[in-house]
Amino acid sequence: MTIFLNGSFMPIEDAKVPVLDRGFIFGDGVYEVIPVYSRHAFRLTEHLKRLQHSLDGIRLPNPHSVSEWTTILNELICRNTPEDQYLYLHITRGVAKRDHAFPVPPVAPTVFALSYPLTTPRAELLNNGISCITVADNRWLRCDIKAISLLPNVLLRQAAVDAGCDEAILIRDDAFLTEGAASNIFVVKNGTLLAPPKDNLMLPGITYDVILELAAANGIPHEVRKLMKPEIFSADELLLSSSTKEVLAITTLDGKPVGNGKPGAMFATLHQLYQAFKRDVMRK
Ligand code: PDD
Repeated sequence: MTIFLNGSFMPIEDAKVPVLDRGFIFGDGVYEVIPVYSRHAFRLTEHLKRLQHSLDGIRLPNPHSVSEWTTILNELICRNTPEDQYLYLHITRGVAKRDHAFPVPPVAPTVFALSYPLTTPRAELLNNGISCITVADNRWLRCDIKAISLLPNVLLRQAAVDAGCDEAILIRDDAFLTEGAASNIFVVKNGTLLAPPKDNLMLPGITYDVILELAAANGIPHEVRKLMKPEIFSADELLLSSSTKEVLAITTLDGKPVGNGKPGAMFATLHQLYQAFKRDVMRK
């Protein structure tokens, strides 16, 4: 596996980061996950825009221009074998004496990228759906930043795993839906696809955008608005989206069936549209 670290490509075994890196010490950095289909990075412009938003959010200058990123990432794709990959990009505020405030003068950021094979969700997950628990969203107020300091998300996901489930659905202020621990969540009611609004309390998912675009392009009724807690429990269907999971049906919530407990009609339609979009657009 070839990775990119601070300007060079190298085998992952040779990649070393000093222990005083602020990513290691403080989780002071941001990241991106970009799917690659048939060696084409999907929505690279949008992912790099979100990366810029995250960097602006933590006041870290972007170490590379869009064209430099494009060159680096395309080279990384070429140097790795799978046709379908996902790229993980990770930028920290660099290596400095331990002090919470930013280093003065600023130090060079640490820039790291690697590629993993991208596999589509197993047939069993597509056929049966996944199980979720609801948990209180106890994260900070800048969930729109894709920060590497993911401890809250790690603990929330682990709470789901401890309960024998796949994902945690996060409820803010005991009142409304934000997202999943590492995914966006949609509610389906009476044939309408409902999505929470992009704000500071959730990550603006690139797959979330794709799902809403597919809905708009195919005449599927959809609405973006705040979704209150009771709406989650009375949903006909619940759906999850992310770059690595695509779109999945949530068929069990807090141990009870969602709707009839099987992936529903909205899931079937969106999954089919997503696969067609992948074949006709993402792979080009
Ligand atoms: N996570 N919300 C959170 C908190 C996420 O971590 C993710 C993705 C999403 C979905 O965003 P997108 O559609 O752009 O992948 C929403 C990635 C996959 C991860 O951390 O591995």
